[in-house]
Amino acid sequence: MKRAVYPGSFDPVTFGHLDVIRRASEMFDVLVVSVLDNKAKTPLFSVEERVKILKEATKDIPNVQVDSFSGLLINYAAKNGIHVAVRGLRAITDFEYELQIAQTNRKLSGEKLDTVFLTTSLEYAYLSSSSVKEIASFGGDISQCVPEFVAKLIYEKYHIL
Ligand code: PNS
Repeated sequence: MKRAVYPGSFDPVTFGHLDVIRRASEMFDVLVVSVLDNKAKTPLFSVEERVKILKEATKDIPNVQVDSFSGLLINYAAKNGIHVAVRGLRAITDFEYELQIAQTNRKLSGEKLDTVFLTTSLEYAYLSSSSVKEIASFGGDISQCVPEFVAKLIYEKYHIL
């Protein structure tokens, strides 16, 4: 069984993430989408909320599991017998950051965790969770960025609607 993990903040999940999830799910037997519980950040959605949203957004893809983790990705991957991490690359600006993380993870894991990059579909290349939140916080239209039920939850957080 080839398992991979797609780690991230997913605060909130966007169509860009869902595009990566769908495509990666076709490459592995099981894709575990895992939400990082990062105590250093103040997210819009709690880890539990993000897991719930991801489960709903991926319910039609049978080989996708949703989980959360804290601490180092290499430890989480080792504990779960996973040797591949998946990440999306939108543009060259993502590359330096992602390259550093991927190389660090490979080195720190004793070459047990490799990273596979999927280039984001062009229609989603401009998308980021931060810009979605900023647009929504000013009441802007995010219908092209996230599923409808996610947009509703975001507006609720900003007391819009
Ligand atoms: O969606 P994000 O916030 O860009 O995801 C970043 C993430 C979760 C992939 C990365 O920060 C991560 O794996 N953090 C866990 C801590 C860790 O393993 N750090 C070592 C890599 S330098």
